[in-house]
Amino acid sequence: MRKKIVAGNWKMNKTLVESQALITEIRGIVRDENTNKAEVIVCPTFLALPSASKLLDGSTVKLGAQNCHFEESGAYTGELSASMLKSVGVSHVIIGHSERRQYFHETNEMLAKKTTAAVNQALTVLFCVGETLQERESGSHFDIIKSQISEGLFHLSAKDMSLIVVAYEPVWAIGTGLTASSEQAEEVHAFIRTLLAEKFGEAISEEVSILYGGSVKPDNAAELFSQKNIDGGLIGGAALKARDFFDIIKAIK
Ligand code: 13P
Repeated sequence: MRKKIVAGNWKMNKTLVESQALITEIRGIVRDENTNKAEVIVCPTFLALPSASKLLDGSTVKLGAQNCHFEESGAYTGELSASMLKSVGVSHVIIGHSERRQYFHETNEMLAKKTTAAVNQALTVLFCVGETLQERESGSHFDIIKSQISEGLFHLSAKDMSLIVVAYEPVWAIGTGLTASSEQAEEVHAFIRTLLAEKFGEAISEEVSILYGGSVKPDNAAELFSQKNIDGGLIGGAALKARDFFDIIKAIK
C-alpha cells in the first residue's frame, strides 16, 4: 500500500515567531485528532527549520524544506545543501516547484542534479511537475509532464525511487482558486504512474505516492483524494491555517 501524504508548502510566508506558532498548533491538532491515515509534512522557510525541528521532536509530523542546491558545499552564495538540511533534522525536500522553475530558471537538468543530491542524503523528495495554462490549452501538457518526469527522475535507480514522491501541480491552478477537476487530475496522475511503470516497472510505480497540488481547500480535498491515483496533496495557501490544513488532512480516507 502506498503512503497517503498531505504536505504544506508555506512558500515565502511567516516570520520565525509566526512559524513557531503555526508548527505548535499543527503539532497539537495532529497529536490530538489525527487518526494517522496520512503522513503529514510541513515545509516552512529555511529560517524556521532548526526550531521547527525541535518543536516537532516526538511528533509524527515530518519536516520538509522548499529547495536545496545540488552541490554539497562551496562558492554558491545564498544557497543551502541537502546535507545542511539533513543536519537540522529535515527529512523531506520540495524540488522542482513551478515557482522555482519559473522565477529562478531551474531547468530539468538542474532539478535532476538536485534530486540526486537530496537522495544521496536520504532525504525524501517531493518532486513537482505541472503544465502552464498555455501548455494545457495547446494540448501539449502530456509532453511537458513526460519531459519533466523523464529528465528529472529517470537517472535514478529503482532503489532511489523509494525516496521519491511526485506532486502534480498544474501551474494554472496554483494560488488561482482554479482547481483541476478530479478527472483532469486523475488523468495526469495515471499518466505519470504509467511513465514510472515503463521506466522502473509496475511494482515500483505502484509504490510511488503522487500528490495533487493547486488550490486544494477543505471543500474540494475529499473529491480529489478519492481518485485512484491521487495519494494526497501538496497544499499552499490553505496550509497556512492550522484548521484548514487539518480539514484537508482529514479528507484522506
Ligand atoms: P495553492 O494551494 O496556494 O494553490 O498552492 C499550491 C502549491 O503551489 C503547493 O506547492
